[in-house]
Amino acid sequence: RNYVVGVDLGGTKILTAVADRQGSVLSRVRVATGADLGQDHVINEIVTSVAVALREAGVSTEAVAAAGIGVPGPLDPQTGVVYLAPNLGWQNLSLGEILGSRLKLPVYVDNDANLAALGECVYGAGQSADNLVYITVSTGVGGGLILGGKIYHGFSGGAGEIGHITLAADGPRCGCGNLGCLEALASGTAIAKRAVALVAEGRGLGILSRAGGDRGGVSARVVAAAASNGDGEAILIMRDAGRYLGMAVAGILNLLNPSVVVLGGGVMQSGSILWEAMLETTRRCALSSALQEVSIVRAALGEEAGVMGALALALEKSQGV
Ligand code: BGC
Ligand code: NA
Ligand code: ZN
Repeated sequence: RNYVVGVDLGGTKILTAVADRQGSVLSRVRVATGADLGQDHVINEIVTSVAVALREAGVSTEAVAAAGIGVPGPLDPQTGVVYLAPNLGWQNLSLGEILGSRLKLPVYVDNDANLAALGECVYGAGQSADNLVYITVSTGVGGGLILGGKIYHGFSGGAGEIGHITLAADGPRCGCGNLGCLEALASGTAIAKRAVALVAEGRGLGILSRAGGDRGGVSARVVAAAASNGDGEAILIMRDAGRYLGMAVAGILNLLNPSVVVLGGGVMQSGSILWEAMLETTRRCALSSALQEVSIVRAALGEEAGVMGALALALEKSQGV
């Protein structure tokens, strides 16, 4: 059994890869997904994407040692039970068990951001750092903690849920049910929602024109492009998101004193306005003891961080097997 499979299940896409024992990737598959598709459909998509990735790699199931899967929500890595996936509408799902029997493979489940942290640590910007925090800003906002060289899971598996730290007591509603979570203030979903509300009021004309005049086309990407183009309302939205992220990063620095903070996810690829606002706020809010030596960097693996971490998990679990 000389191969492993990695899957990164996100709020809007599934990335699947097959690698050999050295971690060299032989095939990659990407499919779109979403909450509106329903749980069974998403599970079928995962199973199909694994089959396609294996076929493209020319590898049979019998030659696979294990599969690692990243899921966008807090879960118990021991049992493979997903407690909640806010952006997929899942609750208490025995995903590890279901996928184990569907794929006929040993399946190891972990949180998507935890695995992205592992991926960046092993293959990316982390340079094998012992204390690294990864933050993803995409459909949701997630966090992964590498402490003492290992993923830190907490007491029951739910550690690292940076996106659901409350930063505005009366802020917008989050997918988890709470008000004012970081995710409800700075995710791609939050940025888009704020722009959509602005446009609905007859404002945000620069943003609307970036969307080709189509209200349905207003997305975080469109807001970021309008901001880079100098649109004042878009700049304000990106800056606010960046400031909230900066507050969270400062809190994390104070709490954990990591050597590296890696920021990934689609929203972090949106130019310098959000990035600069984030750094400025981090520098203002964090204690100098935690700021001194830290490097705050963009994900080196980009979109691939999660799937690379899923491969790393599968490799780690199947060592000596
Ligand atoms: C979930 C996290 C996840 C993040 C990014 C959040 O809503 O609670 O577990 O890492 O989204 O997908
Ligand atoms: Na996490
Ligand atoms: Zn929340």
